[in-house]
Amino acid sequence: MKILGVETSCDDTAVAVLEGRDRILANVVSSQTALHRAYGGIVPELASRHHLENIQPILDKALADAGSRLEDIDGIAVTAGPGLIGSLLVGVSFAKALAWSMGRPLVGVNHLEGHVRAAYIESPDLPYPTLALIVSGGHTSIYLSPEEGVYTLVARTRDDAAGEAFDKAARLLGLGYPGGPIIDRLAKEGDPAAVPFPRAKMSDGSLDFSFSGLKTAVLRQARAAGLAVERRAPSPAYDPHGPEKGPHEEAAMEPTQAVKDFAASFQTAVVDVLVDRTMLAAEPHRARSIVVSGGVACNSLLRAAMRTACAARDLALAIPAPKFCTDNAAMIAAAGRLHLERGERADLDLTAQPGWKLGGPEAARTSTRHK
Ligand code: KG4
Ligand code: ZN
Repeated sequence: MKILGVETSCDDTAVAVLEGRDRILANVVSSQTALHRAYGGIVPELASRHHLENIQPILDKALADAGSRLEDIDGIAVTAGPGLIGSLLVGVSFAKALAWSMGRPLVGVNHLEGHVRAAYIESPDLPYPTLALIVSGGHTSIYLSPEEGVYTLVARTRDDAAGEAFDKAARLLGLGYPGGPIIDRLAKEGDPAAVPFPRAKMSDGSLDFSFSGLKTAVLRQARAAGLAVERRAPSPAYDPHGPEKGPHEEAAMEPTQAVKDFAASFQTAVVDVLVDRTMLAAEPHRARSIVVSGGVACNSLLRAAMRTACAARDLALAIPAPKFCTDNAAMIAAAGRLHLERGERADLDLTAQPGWKLGGPEAARTSTRHK
């Protein structure tokens, strides 16, 4: 069975072809990072317009990479939510049109389930129950998956996502966008104990995350140390040849040791909390394995710290390769396969569900139906 995955929930246009359980025949992602860099973040209207321009060529490339024709595809899986409404609508409309014209089954996939299932592409035999930490620019949550395809929310962020915190800290230091990979790189040469940053705990005993206190501390400490860069307003016009760069990003301006120490201290504060909460959740839920996925799962310190923590507790660990951690359509095809094999089918009234909660009450309202 060959499944076509389509993902357009945020700023990446992605199409993949999955054969069977875990053979990725094509995994094409067109990133819009350079486009949004000029604004220091994602501009929804630009994102949907570019999805519209990119989706057909990306499909053509995916089919060419897979050595497949459209007629060889047995089913289509598309991200229906959560995400940006305009972006989601491009993928959902495109997938519906394809499914209808080809006479093939269609299923709507929750983007967060995709991130969880990304881990099973490379580790298909991961033991259940699994605890999945999904950590990206838009999400920071822990889900319990007691068995294949079943999810319960265990913890979530009450304010910013961890990736958002990375992006905002980097922006404040004038390091450029997206901030995560830049901070990751600079932190390798910094002192993680140089700046004392808080590790927030909920007073009600919940395992939820909060990064707003850290954000305030970052601003205060950066200003006190003279590291805060007040940026000029983003340029209104997109110039593909000259995206605006932060001052420390210019080749001539190697960040100072103080910036590297700041980056290392910040990164350690975020990673400590992510690992701590996941391990605290693992015990009462009798987890046998841990999944870490989403863009921030590319972070080298998080990967290493999770490996150490899981090894100490005899927990199996699966962190997908970076290309499966960031947004991609292979993970959507992998999650979609589960649903298609169970006979679930979306009708042509499938629509974008920007607030679709994984494992939450809204899941019942997806127009993915059993036939
Ligand atoms: O999953 P993703 O590609 O998009 C969504 O947000 O859904 O995640 C992007 C986020 C950005 O905030 C980026 O800064 C962060 O992932 N990120 C990282 C690293 N690579 C990407 N954060 C920390 N360390 C990294 N190496
Ligand atoms: Zn994502």
